[in-house]
Amino acid sequence: MPNMEHQTAPAESIIQHLLREHRRWRSKDFPLISHLFDEAQSAAGQPPCLTPLRTAFHRLYAEIEGHMTREEQVLFPAILEAQSEPQPAEKGFGSIRNPIGMIEREHHWETERLEKMRQIARDYRLPEKADERLRLLFRELEALEAAMHAHSRLESSILFARALTAEKAPPKQAA
Ligand SMILES: [Fe+2]
Repeated sequence: MPNMEHQTAPAESIIQHLLREHRRWRSKDFPLISHLFDEAQSAAGQPPCLTPLRTAFHRLYAEIEGHMTREEQVLFPAILEAQSEPQPAEKGFGSIRNPIGMIEREHHWETERLEKMRQIARDYRLPEKADERLRLLFRELEALEAAMHAHSRLESSILFARALTAEKAPPKQAA
């Protein structure tokens, strides 16, 4: 479940929270995992799953980069704009349902990729002789997976759900 405080938080502060996460993924988590893959692969005796896992991670990384940019440049501004206008406005993309639908399809794809990575890594079970680098890599991948699921849930079940409900609501009658 999304954090309780988000249930009642205004859209602006939810978006600020999501943007902080985007910044953290770009500046810290993705580069760190990428670096850990480089280090783990250069060490002897690593499990064979590491190569396909790394390929899957880099595909996800590239996709998420585009996804975050689309949210920042298209969807978040559209949600804030729709919220500040008294009546549903005709935007270049029509209803807010269109960009939300696109982003939700991307979430679905990301969930499938994360699941695929979990399968490749055999549920992130460490081999008996796993070294510290591999332990850290698997820990970071699992933390990223959990953070991405929470991020998508917060968007889908609170931010997007609210924007869709607001659009469906009839415009308020002028006094
Ligand atoms: Fe998202």
